[in-house]
Amino acid sequence: MHPFFRLLRYARPHRARLGIALAAMLAYALATAGLALLVKPIFDHVLPARQQLGLVAGGIIGVYLVKGLGSYFSSYLMTDIGQRVVRDVRDALFGHILGQSAAFFARRTTGQLLSRITNDVNQIQQAVSETIGDFIREGLALVGYAATMFYYDARLALVVMTSAPIIVYPIVQLGQRVRRSTRRSQEQLEELSHITTEAFAGQRIVKAFGAEAHERRRFAGASDRVYRTNMKVTSALSALPPIMELLGGVGIAAALWYGSRQIADGRLTTGEFVGFLSAMFMMYQPARKLSRVNANLQQAIAAGQRIFEMLDTHTEVTERPDARQASPLTRRVEFDGVTFYYDDGDGRHILDGVSFSADVGQMIAIVGLSGAGKTTLVNLVPRFYDVKAGAIRLDGTDIRDVTLASLRAQIAMVTQETVLFDDTIANNIAYGAQHASPGAIEMAARAAHAHEFVSALPDGYQTRIGERGQRLSGGQRQRLAIARALLKDSPILILDEATSSLDAESEQLVQDALANLLRDRTSFVIAHRLSTVRRADAIVVLDQGRVVEIGRHDDLLARPESAYARLYQLQMFESVAPTDDNGTRAGAPAAATTGEAPR
Ligand SMILES: Nc1ncnc2c1ncn2[C@@H]1O[C@H](COP(=O)(O)OP(=O)(O)O)[C@@H](O)[C@H]1O
Ligand SMILES: [Mg+2]
Repeated sequence: MHPFFRLLRYARPHRARLGIALAAMLAYALATAGLALLVKPIFDHVLPARQQLGLVAGGIIGVYLVKGLGSYFSSYLMTDIGQRVVRDVRDALFGHILGQSAAFFARRTTGQLLSRITNDVNQIQQAVSETIGDFIREGLALVGYAATMFYYDARLALVVMTSAPIIVYPIVQLGQRVRRSTRRSQEQLEELSHITTEAFAGQRIVKAFGAEAHERRRFAGASDRVYRTNMKVTSALSALPPIMELLGGVGIAAALWYGSRQIADGRLTTGEFVGFLSAMFMMYQPARKLSRVNANLQQAIAAGQRIFEMLDTHTEVTERPDARQASPLTRRVEFDGVTFYYDDGDGRHILDGVSFSADVGQMIAIVGLSGAGKTTLVNLVPRFYDVKAGAIRLDGTDIRDVTLASLRAQIAMVTQETVLFDDTIANNIAYGAQHASPGAIEMAARAAHAHEFVSALPDGYQTRIGERGQRLSGGQRQRLAIARALLKDSPILILDEATSSLDAESEQLVQDALANLLRDRTSFVIAHRLSTVRRADAIVVLDQGRVVEIGRHDDLLARPESAYARLYQLQMFESVAPTDDNGTRAGAPAAATTGEAPR
């Protein structure tokens, strides 16, 4: 469907307002025509003979009153409808984008998506609220004037009207140009938004590497491109009124030439002719506005196309129409020949026939070199991505057969990069569980060993922690993330290097917190701490997407040719201080951990 009509569909719920607005526009148009009709009695009766003075004067005031009211209500209501449509489009777009798959977000930047929601939506706002209103109101007014002209002198009116198609050509041509340039301009704004969010989010690295000038140049380049394209739009838009005016002038000159002869021959009164000319002059304003309508609509269509492209993108992980509610885990989680590759990767299998299972309550450690596929594997459980072959089953049920909400309700996750929101500590812990009581929040925080530092803050649980939790240390952030997972209290727990950014002191606290978290839960722990790995009921050793060994710590170490022993010798695992009797760091020293440096 054409983007214009799709936009109009968003106005459908506001039909009633639209109806009132239309009535107001009709009143406006009738009053406008009435004004042109009053010219004749002015010149034929009032001025020569002072007849009908009161009537005409009253008529003028009345007509302006009606015109004013019509104008007020129509523009107020049309803007209101436009803003509502824009709001609804914006909300739909946000919800739609949020529902997209992880692969979708990996392909696009935050800045680009942001730009669709702000710049493109703003671009359609003017069209819907102003342009469509203008189109109807001024179109009606134009019809009113034309009718008046026919009333005064049909032949003359016909002559004038036949020249109208001449103006259509430039309007259509310029409209096309405006649409193309607007599309380009919106793409460039997207780029601008991308550069901005990237530079601001990475401001510390920008500064540390002295790259301010580089970022400024990048921004200035994009900014200049937006400027140039916008000027192209402006030049097309500005060309319209003068073209209209010139053509109008020609029409008036022709009418004057013809009309003066008609008056001389006595076929037309002066009043009629002045009325005719007035109608023509008055036509200029609606005609000028109408000439821009097409160009403005083209702008909205360009932006609308970009919005609808996004709304038509479906990368959501889909739910079967007959998906059931997942019942709470009671037996086991099973990976059965799980194979996976990224659609936009190089085609290499990231996971290849991974099979193992975890009985309820067990802790499974997943180890392997960086890039082995550990994070990818755990991301398949909440269906951030779907397996390409094989299956993951909860108590024998394929996770693709249950609803996403009921599946994800069973899983709590703590990731290496802690994600916190610019909100209070309490709300961050209760994220996704808005109705949690303060008592429950505090209990989770205590178990995560976060209560101590939280209660030392001036506002306690009501302290706002800044974007991405910037006002907290890495260890504090991780403990809040653990508290959040504790509060969720779900049967399956996934920890992806959840303690990677901790110093030795908070490390011990977090280890305790984790022990609380792991109790009675089925957990998958991507571990780089020896203490965690040792405790695991089973260790899954991944190498280039394949399971090479499964077993307990001591058994794996004892095997000949053990891949696990090799990882161990590579000093893959950090040991945590006082887990050993003498209180010194035991085992392999900290080094070569997996994953990236913390932000
Ligand atoms: N979104 C993605 N698109 C394409 N390739 C990816 C994506 N994420 C990870 N990869 C690739 O998948 C492989 C495994 O990554 P990952 O599961 O993060 O490993 P690990 O967590 O074991 O370090 C890596 O080689 C990486 O390049
Ligand atoms: Mg990883």
